[in-house]
Amino acid sequence: MATEFSTFEHDVLVIGAGGAGLRAAIEASAAGLKVGLVCKSLLGKAHTVMAEGGVAASLANVDDRDDWKVHFADTMRGGQYMNNCRMAQLHAQEAPARVRELEAWGALFDRTQDGKILQRNFGGHRYPRLAHVGDRTGLEMIRTLQDHGIHQGIDVHMEVTVIDLLKDGERVVGALAYDRERGRFKVYKTRAIVLATGGIGRAFKITSNSWEYTGDGHALAYEAGAELMDMEFVQFHPTGMVWPPSVRGILVTEGVRGEGGILKNKDGRRFMFDDIPANYKTQTADNEEEGWRYVTGDKNARRPPELLTRDHVARCINREVKAGRGSPHGGVFLDIAWIQAKVPNGAEHIKKKLPSMYHQFKQLAGLDITKEPMEVGPTTHYAMGGVRVDGDTQMSCVPGLFAAGECAAGLHGANRLGGNSLSDLIVFGKRAGEYAAKFAKENKSGSIDDNQVEALAKKALAPFERTGGENPYAIQHELQDSMQDLVGIVRTQSEMEKGLAKIQELQKRAQKTGIEGNREFNPAWHTALDLKNLLIVSEAVTRAALERRESRGAQFREDYPEKSAEYAKANHVLKRERDGSMKLIKTPVPTVPADLQAIIQENA
Ligand code: FUM
Repeated sequence: MATEFSTFEHDVLVIGAGGAGLRAAIEASAAGLKVGLVCKSLLGKAHTVMAEGGVAASLANVDDRDDWKVHFADTMRGGQYMNNCRMAQLHAQEAPARVRELEAWGALFDRTQDGKILQRNFGGHRYPRLAHVGDRTGLEMIRTLQDHGIHQGIDVHMEVTVIDLLKDGERVVGALAYDRERGRFKVYKTRAIVLATGGIGRAFKITSNSWEYTGDGHALAYEAGAELMDMEFVQFHPTGMVWPPSVRGILVTEGVRGEGGILKNKDGRRFMFDDIPANYKTQTADNEEEGWRYVTGDKNARRPPELLTRDHVARCINREVKAGRGSPHGGVFLDIAWIQAKVPNGAEHIKKKLPSMYHQFKQLAGLDITKEPMEVGPTTHYAMGGVRVDGDTQMSCVPGLFAAGECAAGLHGANRLGGNSLSDLIVFGKRAGEYAAKFAKENKSGSIDDNQVEALAKKALAPFERTGGENPYAIQHELQDSMQDLVGIVRTQSEMEKGLAKIQELQKRAQKTGIEGNREFNPAWHTALDLKNLLIVSEAVTRAALERRESRGAQFREDYPEKSAEYAKANHVLKRERDGSMKLIKTPVPTVPADLQAIIQENA
């Protein structure tokens, strides 16, 4: 019997409704096109809200030495020069305008004394650069974009998961999806697609990502013939909650450290001073107490060592825990309470600057951060790797298929600076929407093959037919454990080889999942369908990490602890072969033109 489908037609289909997806949809809709926006969850529930501490833009409101060139140079240095320099340039140049635009659309920001948008320090940024509203910046961004977008007539499809992209020849022309509530299939016909599905955090056991982040956009693009790049670079944010177990991994914003929070081990030692990178000096300000000690880097920019780049801070925490100097529940201590001695109305100051953190710890851990230190440890937060796209247009090598935000690669290279994700979303979300609209205007609709759709739907329903099949949750948990233990913060060849063998075993078992019940709201079925994506991205991460025999940015190899000039030359690209196998290709890192090279040198 033929399967039933509801059919929808849009000029541009945006898959994913976080910051990048919303911004892309707004832009495509402003170009006069009919736009569909698909959210896996409810509108407004997106990992964007987990970028709490701010959006990076060189507004120079707090330090007038800042400009796009310094931001560009910081981003390239943070990315260890593996970045697509064109994207890093566009990002630094366009971020201030995008932030002002958000403000014009109603976003609230904290203010300086003279009424400008306030900016705070964050790791790897030379000057205070993060425009913020307390520790709820991502939430404010989503609220603003949602309010703005909803009034433009964008068609929002909530609680819908896309399972396959549909092609006509080389081009994408549509998508097959199901709705969570009733389990009914939906066919979207379109002329251009923007993927903005966010990250891959659920491939790991400890993550700041919620259930939606199963690498859907990465896997959809890969299966449609696009290339994935830089997948080995997975960012472990240094500070996630570690206790109680039910909240392990939830983000503790870098804004805590930006506001003066310091890290200590169980002996009360401020251990971040024990491993200062060679290009920094340690200094203690005259007449000031221990807490105001800082490290001085290039151009005399000062920062506490807690605000060194995330990869470095995460490894230092890992070292303390492994050496038995951690906190009772396997983390370290993050103390913001100490600043009460330094600022008037200390407790109120902390609550005002970090309202979400105050409530998060109070409600989830029964701890008052104005009085006691938090227990924190690294959490899988962000994928630098994603769909390889053109830097200007965000189009992948598949005509009509665009990607923006976390599921696109290039901007961040080997490591992302905090705050550069929110600016990435609005800069490249806008660009993706603009160029997707252009593509849709310039190309006629393609045709969708009904037999292909029927076959894909049948495949998606197959787990219902298999009684006594593999349990999808068991496969997901085994994958998460394996990725966490074998392809995590510290990597070695032998462990990753074991990790790859495990992925291959799970890929076979995932073909045989069996589920009970019916299609109405059936999370076991949804998990079974998500497994394909989780396994594709896990394989891509592991293959790219194995091939990179060096330590750079977010990838730390215990067996190759140094950087290698050889490996600095190429990005790792993963492509699907005709027989379905994954192939790794090395592609030269884009050459930095002389004018940008000069900017990097001036700001070294
Ligand atoms: O710590 C944070 O607030 C995270 C910010 C980010 O990932 O950009």
